[in-house]
Amino acid sequence: MKKEITVRELDVEGFIREKVSAISEAVGGGMAINALSGGVDSSAVTMLGHRALGQRLKTVFIDNGLMREGEPQEVGGFFARLGVKVDIVDARKEFSGALKGITDPEQKREAITQTFYRHVFGRIVKESGAKHLLQGTILTDVDETVAGIKRQHNVFEQLGIDPQEAFGYQIIEPLIQLRKDAVRKVGKALGLPGELFDRIPFPGPALAARVIGEATPERIETVRKATRVVERLLKGAGAFQYMAILHADRVTGMRDGKRDFGQQIEVRCWDSVDARKATPTRLPFETLETLAREIIRDVPGIVSVTYNIAPKPPSTIEAV
Ligand code: XMP
Repeated sequence: MKKEITVRELDVEGFIREKVSAISEAVGGGMAINALSGGVDSSAVTMLGHRALGQRLKTVFIDNGLMREGEPQEVGGFFARLGVKVDIVDARKEFSGALKGITDPEQKREAITQTFYRHVFGRIVKESGAKHLLQGTILTDVDETVAGIKRQHNVFEQLGIDPQEAFGYQIIEPLIQLRKDAVRKVGKALGLPGELFDRIPFPGPALAARVIGEATPERIETVRKATRVVERLLKGAGAFQYMAILHADRVTGMRDGKRDFGQQIEVRCWDSVDARKATPTRLPFETLETLAREIIRDVPGIVSVTYNIAPKPPSTIEAV
């Protein structure tokens, strides 16, 4: 495994030059594909690939039905303004089918991995004739997977999986030596707007990582609505990452004077530098009250809102 490049050691321009030429060399005269999610990692990779390959890079946004509200169109719009064409691929049915009936966190991650790499990408790669997939795996993804904490959806080689053998294409990972803080610097230098290089992290399994228990389309929609409230209210908190999580267990509540055995949302808001360790942000109590009020108002079926106050470790940033 290649050595970490810390944000202090990073020579941004040198790094970009080196990665652009490495991508050109690996792909040769052929085509490559990359999946853009709109997070800083995949956005930076898109720009590196675009510089290296121009039109020979096909960028797709996989609409897995697990993204935040309006995300496919919003991300496509950002990149159109940067001169990069993004094809939106509707794979919502495939993902909801694969997640049906699954409640175990690692099985959920595995179902998403298989659907993404084997089925959806397998098909797109075959149709396009590309032999390479560019992706934004970073060092933290690898660390946690190898340590057996969480199977990050985009890690293979370090687990002894050969993507060529498993899926029929090579995976190129230009950011594998960096952590989030360094990726942001690279993204900024590549011309990404602040909305993209400064975006809070969002996990590969998307909102499925924020639903405890089965990630049905209805439960995803519930957490999507809560996410909209949490992101709107915590945008200015200066935190590393913030999120809403839908719990599996119900609690007794009351609505219109009657018993309502309702659902629970947990809010998490983290201070962290690189996601390896994190502590809950000391949000003012008024902010917590506003969160509760607006989540209850905007998300049908929610009767309880909690705020996580445990640090990572032993907690992790995402709940699944
Ligand atoms: P955890 O939950 O492991 O998260 O403390 C650490 C950071 O990684 C993000 N995360 C992921 N990113 N694929 C990704 O690309 C994944 O499967 C994944 N799971 C978690 C998480 O949002 C946090 O910033």
